[in-house]
Amino acid sequence: MINKTEIKKQEETEKEITIIDLPGVGAATAEKLEAAGYNNLMGLAVASPGEIVEASGVGESTARKIIQAARASLSMGFESGEDILKKRANIMKIKTNSSNLNTLLGGGFETGAITECFGEYGSGKTQIAHVLTVMLQKQDPDAIAVFIDTENTFRPERIIELAKGAGLDPHKVLRNIRVARAYNSDHQMLLAEKATDLITKNKLNVKLVVIDSLTAHFRAEFIGRGTLAERQQKLNKHMHTLLRLADSNNLCVYVTNQVMARPDVFFGDPTEAIGGHIVAHSSTFRIYLRKGKKGSRVAKLVDSPNLPDAACAFTVTTDGLIDF
Ligand code: GTP
Ligand code: MG
Repeated sequence: MINKTEIKKQEETEKEITIIDLPGVGAATAEKLEAAGYNNLMGLAVASPGEIVEASGVGESTARKIIQAARASLSMGFESGEDILKKRANIMKIKTNSSNLNTLLGGGFETGAITECFGEYGSGKTQIAHVLTVMLQKQDPDAIAVFIDTENTFRPERIIELAKGAGLDPHKVLRNIRVARAYNSDHQMLLAEKATDLITKNKLNVKLVVIDSLTAHFRAEFIGRGTLAERQQKLNKHMHTLLRLADSNNLCVYVTNQVMARPDVFFGDPTEAIGGHIVAHSSTFRIYLRKGKKGSRVAKLVDSPNLPDAACAFTVTTDGLIDF
């Protein structure tokens, strides 16, 4: 009988070199690395020796060799600006039904990046998450959306309404959404790591990963100043997993984040996103959402690598989002 690793090896020899071909990596180590979410050479090449040691149990010097070999095999040299431009041509921009919001984001929610939406309760973060899972399928009917739900806010009934609003078959849309409840921050981190399995093992065309909410568990579990450093460390690791997920699979990561009141701010907006610099700096695009006039929602782009800071308004309706 041929075991799984052998089949994998066979498949892989037809392609290029893979994890198992690296020096110091036997079948057992390869399996452990894969179980820890290292499914390709890129993942190993950008990992730290400590991460590899933790994931696979190999010694530190072996971990270094593995990383070096992964790096060497990837020809991770410098690319010309033109190559990057070509790569960016593959980026998909997931459009909502509010053209204001799409324009604010330079056309839509980009794949290959993390977009964070922060704002007070009821500002529309979860609604945007639902809209994206549906509208993704308007653009690509075979695309899969993954919804990591930490607050039990995913509502299939809402998906049905939005799908009808977008003129799509609601049941087909629901079939193309994979939902997982995360019961605590460790579980959430594990689910993010396992999301790659859907792509590599289950061969699903995942184009969107939602985490609603990114920070709620972390906020609830690490209370008080003493635990702040630990919380930030874990969040940092989580954000790196998400960045890797977005970048190596050219998919859109959309995360929601709450805000807290800052008692020391007397002028301007006294709210601040949870997660501090770690979340802020790891997110590629950041949107601040607030309630506006007449039930509208105001979205402000506060951070983006290539777009001007700007704002727009939209309204949440049964059918989706519409410009205000
Ligand atoms: P928290 O998770 O509590 O921080 O809030 P949030 O930012 O996720 O808010 P959410 O996206 O849940 O927005 C809630 C608001 O969206 C509600 O106050 C309604 O105005 C609107 N909304 C929610 N569901 C529907 C719906 O089914 N139809 C319509 N028309 N509006 C809805
Ligand atoms: Mg919400």
